[in-house]
Amino acid sequence: MILLPEQPWWQKGVIYQIYPRSFLDTTGNGIGDLRGIIKKLDYLEELGVSGLWLCPIFPSPMYDFGYDTSDYYNIEPLFGSMDLFQEMLLTARKKNIRIILDLALNHTSHLHPWFIESSSSRNNTRSDWYIWANPRPPRRPPNNWKSVFGGSAWTWSEKRKQYYLHSFTPEQPDLNWRNPDVKKELYNIIRFWLEKGADGFRLDVVDFFLKDDRLRSNPLCIGRRPYEMQKHIYDKNRPETIEIMREIRSLVDLYPHKLALGEVAERNTEIAASYYGPASDGLHLNFNFDFLEQPWKAKAFQVSIEDWEKLLGTGNWPVYTLSNHDVPRHFSRYGNCQNRARAAAGMVLTLKGTPVIYYGEELGMPQGRIPRAQIRDPVGKRYWPFHPGRDGSRTPMQWDDSPNAGFTDANPWLPVNPNFPRVNVADQKKDPQSLYHFYRRLIKFRNSSNALQSGIIRFTNPSNSSVLAYQRKVPGENLLILINFSSRDQPVELPSKFVSPHLAFSCPTLEIEAGKKRVLLPPDGFAILQE
Ligand code: GLC
Repeated sequence: MILLPEQPWWQKGVIYQIYPRSFLDTTGNGIGDLRGIIKKLDYLEELGVSGLWLCPIFPSPMYDFGYDTSDYYNIEPLFGSMDLFQEMLLTARKKNIRIILDLALNHTSHLHPWFIESSSSRNNTRSDWYIWANPRPPRRPPNNWKSVFGGSAWTWSEKRKQYYLHSFTPEQPDLNWRNPDVKKELYNIIRFWLEKGADGFRLDVVDFFLKDDRLRSNPLCIGRRPYEMQKHIYDKNRPETIEIMREIRSLVDLYPHKLALGEVAERNTEIAASYYGPASDGLHLNFNFDFLEQPWKAKAFQVSIEDWEKLLGTGNWPVYTLSNHDVPRHFSRYGNCQNRARAAAGMVLTLKGTPVIYYGEELGMPQGRIPRAQIRDPVGKRYWPFHPGRDGSRTPMQWDDSPNAGFTDANPWLPVNPNFPRVNVADQKKDPQSLYHFYRRLIKFRNSSNALQSGIIRFTNPSNSSVLAYQRKVPGENLLILINFSSRDQPVELPSKFVSPHLAFSCPTLEIEAGKKRVLLPPDGFAILQE
């Protein structure tokens, strides 16, 4: 037997993203909570996932639903308490499930005591903890920077007679990472949660941590909306940010098996890849938004994956996801079709890299349609009807066909998708052909396959442009993965080593004739062949 170097859990296993407000309400206030997550750990264990990424669970006034933190050392009372957090951690650990916290360290809430103090005067102990600047005369914002969520990135403070910077909403003032005291405090937060036993972090908008020290205006360019009409060279992605990534990495690495996973919502893959650090000494993982934004085309995904593989080289490990709490669910993006959702899951769960799946995608939960009066997301409130906001991807988990899909006894904070009587966990568990069982079977297969967990990836370029085909390989195990992106049968030539292969996994069932050099892949078909 060949012994492979031991791989960390976060490379081998599947990570499941939970939006805690929407998972399970156990207190009867219409909002999910930590007790709800604890109650569903059996479900997650059965699904076979190895880690949970929880969107922020720290105290927050919820202007941006937790991405506006007002206390980094506590648990939001709506979700539970520190004791409950510890209980969740311990119960999860017994099931071999790790917990990854979501830290928004680019900005705090405007109600965080640090900001209240900082904004109270120009000379207080925290006066330089945020990014303050004098107006351009007579009282114009200091430069042309825009907020990602619309409008100027600067808001006037009457008390200080200065502007403060907020890359997102005005209720999310940006911290001044160039101030060593701020940095020290933020690293304390990281240390605090690692000491508590958290298994790592998803780090929110790391690309925004540092801004130009001279606050220069961005050059203008052509774009569709005001934010896109600037080249963001001075308000984010400053080269010095990588140094911070390296510091965070060395801090997290002091604790074995912990993970630093970054969010850089960037189509420019060279920039996104740079967050792994010049010597693979930056973030352990960084999301790839180029992959997430591909159209449903085999070639498009292949180009995106090969580009990412090339940029990351052999020293860095990819991470792949198709949905999250900020973008429309891929189930709907790719046509609201269960069969296609299978093919998509087949791809994410067999690529070389850590798969991150988003709660409910294992059922084929669609993107919710939220009536205007029920919009909660600040983006939707500001831009409706041009942009409906992000609530549609945050609707309550669909557990069963009882009222409110078994999510809550009360009025849910966001409307439940009306299709819950047809699409829910309880029903799909009973149906061996369901999407849920597809995920479960495939995750189980992945968890037992060295080639899928750690093997190299090589595309085989079948002459058929509707099919994505790649091999995953370690010494002793060679798999060929075939995914049909079309709704027609597609013939695929098999590489010579795979003539008369063993069919390891397929959906729908693939017919393979012994000795034949080609197979006919059914519409949306997915198959794993073994050499
Ligand atoms: C990230 C989060 C998003 C949040 C924003 C500001 O992109 O994923 O939900 O609104 O940062 O913190």
